[in-house]
Amino acid sequence: MKIVIAIGGSILLKEYNCKKFQEYSSILKDLSKEHELFVVVGGGKPAREYIRVVRDLGAGEAQCDDIGIEVTRINAKLLLSALGDIAYQRVPHNFQEALEFSASGKIVVMGGTEPAHSTDAVSAILAEYINADQLINLTSVDGMYTKDPNKFDDAELVSEITATDLLEFLSGKDVKAGTYEFFDTTAAQMIKRSKLQTVITNGYEPENLIKAINGENVGTKVISK
Ligand code: UTP
Repeated sequence: MKIVIAIGGSILLKEYNCKKFQEYSSILKDLSKEHELFVVVGGGKPAREYIRVVRDLGAGEAQCDDIGIEVTRINAKLLLSALGDIAYQRVPHNFQEALEFSASGKIVVMGGTEPAHSTDAVSAILAEYINADQLINLTSVDGMYTKDPNKFDDAELVSEITATDLLEFLSGKDVKAGTYEFFDTTAAQMIKRSKLQTVITNGYEPENLIKAINGENVGTKVISK
C-alpha cells in the first residue's frame, strides 16, 4: 500500500530527546519492507514557541506560519537522521518534490508547505497528490472526542465519523498560526473530496501505527461521506 503518515511534532518532541524518533524509525523501517511510505512531521512545542516570539516581534499571521513551517522541516530532518539510508535524505518543500523523491524507492519525509494550514492538511493533500491507499494521523489525543476530554469527564471517543460530520464539528475552530485544533478543516475537506481512508489515533503509542494499518480499531476512523 501507499501510506501517508502524519506524526505530530508534539509526539516526537514531547521530551526533547531522541526516543520517539528512534521508536518510529524502527517501526517505519519494518513497514517500508511492505509499503511505500510518506511521512509528514509536525512542529510541536518548538514551533509554537518560535511562533510566539515572532508574533511578539510584530509579524503577521502568514509570517508566523512561515516560521512554523521551518520548524516542521527541522523536525523532518531529525527523523531523516534516525532513518538513515532507507529514507531519501532531503526534505521536499512541495508535493511535486515529494513525488519526485519517492521515485528513489525510499521513505519520503516532509514538513509543512505553505502558510494557512497545519501539517494535517499537508498530509491529506499529499495523500491526494500521490493517490495514497491510507492516511494515518498520529496525534496527541486518542482520536476525536464528543467534547474536549481535558475539560469534560463525560467526553466520549468517537470510533467512526463521516468527513462531512467532522467538517461540521471543526467549523468555527481557531485557525491562527500554531493553534490548530485537534484536526485541520482543510484536511477534512481533502478527505471528503478524495474519499481518503483515514485513521486519527494516539501517536504516543507508536504501535498504534501498525494497528491502524492492519485495520484494527484504534482511535477515530474518518469515512468519506
Ligand atoms: P503543525 O502542523 O505542527 O501544527 O505546524 P500544530 O497542529 O499546531 O502542531 P502539532 O505538531 O500537531 O503539535 C506548526 C505550525 O506551522 C504552520 C502553522 O502555523 C502551524 O500551526 N504551518 C505548518 C503552516 O503554516 N503550513 C504548513 O504547511 C505547516
